[in-house]
Amino acid sequence: MDSRELMRYAIGARANSYAPYSHYNVGAALLCDDGTVVCGSNIENASYPASICAERSAISAAASSGKRRFLAIAIAGGAEDEKDVLSGYAMPCGICRQVMREFADPKSFKIYVGRSVDDIKEFTLAELLPESFGPDHLK
Ligand code: THU
Repeated sequence: MDSRELMRYAIGARANSYAPYSHYNVGAALLCDDGTVVCGSNIENASYPASICAERSAISAAASSGKRRFLAIAIAGGAEDEKDVLSGYAMPCGICRQVMREFADPKSFKIYVGRSVDDIKEFTLAELLPESFGPDHLK
């Protein structure tokens, strides 16, 4: 699965975003090591801190179905009235980067942020979360 295909899933997942407070719709598509793709969207809450980001929605859904190793994630986010080409790249927040760290190899895990399938930036988790704390510290 290439970055464009994964980004297509992420853009599609924006449709399930529940963001009545920020009006900022985010979709994420997580590539698992068995080749499956699990999507998530941001789900806000009237008690604002109870909201969950799209990336963690996808990771929670995948982990809850027994998956444990992830290879890449694509993220697409923008204001609810933006449809075809988004105005910016939705970078993952710090909490989401740390949650990715739990189930991924930082050096090889790819994070794709896109404005469309034709406009994608690519990072590794190690680039976005350097010198990180992870499960290996507790062994
Ligand atoms: N959001 C995400 O879904 N992912 C991120 O990494 C950053 C922010 C969501 C949370 C909230 O619903 C909205 O974007 C505005 O912060």
